[in-house]
Amino acid sequence: MRTPFVAGNWKMNKTVAEARELVAGMGPALKQVQGVDKVLCPPFVALLAVANLVSGTEIGLGAQNMHWEEKGAFTGEVAPGMLKEFCQYVILGHSERRTYFGETDETVNKKVLAAQKQGLTPIVCVGETLAQYESGQTAQIVRRQVLEGLKGLDLAFAAQIVVAYEPVWAIGTGKASSAENAEMVHRDVVRAALTDLFGEAAAQSIRILYGGSVTAVNAAEFFSQPDIDGALVGGASLKPAEFLAICQAAAQ
Ligand code: PGA
Repeated sequence: MRTPFVAGNWKMNKTVAEARELVAGMGPALKQVQGVDKVLCPPFVALLAVANLVSGTEIGLGAQNMHWEEKGAFTGEVAPGMLKEFCQYVILGHSERRTYFGETDETVNKKVLAAQKQGLTPIVCVGETLAQYESGQTAQIVRRQVLEGLKGLDLAFAAQIVVAYEPVWAIGTGKASSAENAEMVHRDVVRAALTDLFGEAAAQSIRILYGGSVTAVNAAEFFSQPDIDGALVGGASLKPAEFLAICQAAAQ
């Protein structure tokens, strides 16, 4: 059985003071939600503050990106070992990084391998654009992103990673995928590709999250699908009551 997993991707929102306020607003109730892996992913500069607030609780911490090199002359970048001081998780290959910052399956793969080396659990994002969806290329695109992004991982580590299927057309649009469509992609494309890469046992233990306009209203329907193991939540993770309700839905 896969433990449900809900991560809040705060994106480029919240100063340190605001981050503290947000965690103070939802932390106590969030701690009460049992049987779900709950993870907060604030911007880099708020990681230390949030780490201090969640330390000693079962709330996990993740970054939203990192470089693959260990250190050196890479102005503006953050290394895996720097994150490891605060975080257990790192979001990699988010569609906004692919769209605005030139990330490719190749750079995502370098980052995933660097996360493995550092013992950080990657939350690897895949998903097709609206044009790809409309032209029936979803399976082909998502399969390639999984195969290319995750190749070369050790089996033992692969079993612990998290994959997020986020159709680009559903992110921040208020137009979530239907639960049935997401389930089909999770089962027939993502988990099938994971099985080809790592074998049945590892593929069955990997959590596959849905992301894209998840709310307190639609969360339960996604979580009722057998291959939807949780959610990567953007906008709704900035609203304490909403994020809490999504975590509670995952616990059911
Ligand atoms: P959204 O974002 O929930 O605001 O659609 C999801 C994401 O980008 O991870």
